[in-house]
Amino acid sequence: MKVIPRRNRFGRKAQPVDYHEALREIAKSMVRLKRPERLLKMITRFITRELGLTHAAILVLEPEKSRYTIFDSKGVKKLPRSLIRLDLDHPIIRWFRMTDKETEADRAYISKNRIQALLRNPQIYKNRPEVHESLVRLQRAMGDYRVDIAIPGHFKEALVGILLLGEKLSRRLFTQTEISFFQTLVHDAAIAVKTSEYHERLIERNLELEERLKEIERLRKKEQETYYEIMKSLAQEVHAKDPYTFGHIHQVERLGVMTAEEMGLDLSGRKKAVLSAGLLLHDVGKIGIPDNILKKPSALDTEEWKVMRTHVEKGVKILEPLTDFKEVTEIVRCHHECYDGSGYPRGLRGDQIPIEARIVSVVDAFHAIVSTRCYREGRSIETALQELQRNAGTQFDPQVVGAFLRAFKKNGRSRKAA
Ligand SMILES: [Fe+2]
Repeated sequence: MKVIPRRNRFGRKAQPVDYHEALREIAKSMVRLKRPERLLKMITRFITRELGLTHAAILVLEPEKSRYTIFDSKGVKKLPRSLIRLDLDHPIIRWFRMTDKETEADRAYISKNRIQALLRNPQIYKNRPEVHESLVRLQRAMGDYRVDIAIPGHFKEALVGILLLGEKLSRRLFTQTEISFFQTLVHDAAIAVKTSEYHERLIERNLELEERLKEIERLRKKEQETYYEIMKSLAQEVHAKDPYTFGHIHQVERLGVMTAEEMGLDLSGRKKAVLSAGLLLHDVGKIGIPDNILKKPSALDTEEWKVMRTHVEKGVKILEPLTDFKEVTEIVRCHHECYDGSGYPRGLRGDQIPIEARIVSVVDAFHAIVSTRCYREGRSIETALQELQRNAGTQFDPQVVGAFLRAFKKNGRSRKAA
């Protein structure tokens, strides 16, 4: 890269500008700077200071207003920022948006001297008065803003901005090396501006998307909560059918939580809510069992038991739409599994059965034994506790039975407490 000696405002020789080095430094800044505004300011500052110009300014497109406004201006004769707003019809803007083939090469940049040369050559605008008029208007506009040279910055055919440069304080002409340097700068700055715009738009869209997702999540949660409330009402409805088991589910819930606490289970976060929901909803599928079976005042026969057992899969189907309650559905699915694998519907055993379902199984059995049915009186608490111990290790998880007994003793042995 050619090194050009420069002169300061007094015309004395100063240090030469190494354009190659300058471009490398600015390229580094482009990577570093996230906001293109700082980059544009850096460019105008660098040009006016290092090349000793009367002024330098950058016009940037405001797409939503279809106009170009002066973004930054520096130098001893800098342009007033607030005053310069060029619409699409302005001669400087029109020039760089023109598609005239004869003057196409001059779309890369235009200088005051070049306009004069073009106007002196009638061949250029022969039979094309509009080109002549454009050149005259352009010359006047460049004079109004004391612009010596204008360099456009394009991005994918779109005119993103224009660098306007005043004359050198030394009155020397711009060299081709300098012009190439300006073109590279403006080209890279245009890319930086557009990339930043895309980035900002992307951030905005992401924020919008996040907001929408939050709203969807909020609505979904609300829907789930409503559905859960309906399920709870349904569960109560099932037990309300049998007056003697009315209130059963809430007692089962209380005893179940007590047992889990006695076992030292982790009930943090939503784990306690999952256990409570499992204890409350385990028999919700009974809503689909005919009354003549559900309320039969005598023991069920084999066929009736088959129907009664379907309350498990019916419960699962009812709860499946509750996507937030997958664990609850699993408890419902497993609450009639037995510790030794003899239960239903899948014959799971031991740890294959969720611990919450093993708790439901024990607590539910206890309450069923002590509750009065229409075909029999409820049995004593002692009988129920013995029954649990007798079946620990076969029907029930022995650890759960042990914890239940301890919790029950701690919290009172009265029938009322059950
Ligand atoms: Fe059940």
